[in-house]
Amino acid sequence: MAGNWKMYKTPAETTAFFQKFRPLVENSGHCEIVVCPAFLSLAAAVEAAKGSTIRVGAQNVAWAKEGAFTGEVSGPMIRAAGATHVIVGHSERRQYFGETDQTVLKRTQAALESGLAPIVCVGECLEDRERDRTEAVLERQFLQGIAGLTEHRFANIAIAYEPVWAIGTGKTATPEIAADAHRAIRAQAAAKYGKTAGGSLRILYGGSVKPDNVQSLMAQPEIDGVLVGGASLDPVSFASIVNF
Ligand code: PGA
Repeated sequence: MAGNWKMYKTPAETTAFFQKFRPLVENSGHCEIVVCPAFLSLAAAVEAAKGSTIRVGAQNVAWAKEGAFTGEVSGPMIRAAGATHVIVGHSERRQYFGETDQTVLKRTQAALESGLAPIVCVGECLEDRERDRTEAVLERQFLQGIAGLTEHRFANIAIAYEPVWAIGTGKTATPEIAADAHRAIRAQAAAKYGKTAGGSLRILYGGSVKPDNVQSLMAQPEIDGVLVGGASLDPVSFASIVNF
């Protein structure tokens, strides 16, 4: 159960979130919890999560370890801050910051080299869905990006299926639509890496996940977890998603 805070919460707001959130998820041994704040709040989140099972992730990672890359933050820097996970290729990065399937692959490789667990995002936009191109888009994102990983590395990533039309819009994919897409992604993974690797791949659903729809989504055997934006900003709401 991962929370993507996007460009919200200062370090002080992060600390305040954890104070309320921690007691609410104390008994959540059924799942892994990852909170992904902005870079500047990573250290505050790590400090506030100390002694709990809650993990902290970044929202992006540079493809190089260091160098002349103004504005970027590298895997070793994220690790040094105490984070263990990173979201790669979020649709907002693809839409607004020029992220491509190729840069998503490079960033995923860099994350793995730094010992970070990547949550790699894929998903179609509304026009693709309306033109019945969902599977083709997912296939392109997989083949031109993720599929560049070695089998060994592939075993260490999770994929998040996030239909762009469902992100921040309040329009959740129906559990059936999400499960269909997850099946397609799993089939692509199995075709490339074999049945076992395809079967053990964890696929999260993201896009307007809320306390009142998480149960029906998680009831789909194809859905292994969720990546939550807006509803992860409030400790009570994210805790009720975690404890669905
Ligand atoms: P949302 O965002 O839950 O606010 O739709 C999900 C995401 O972008 O990861």
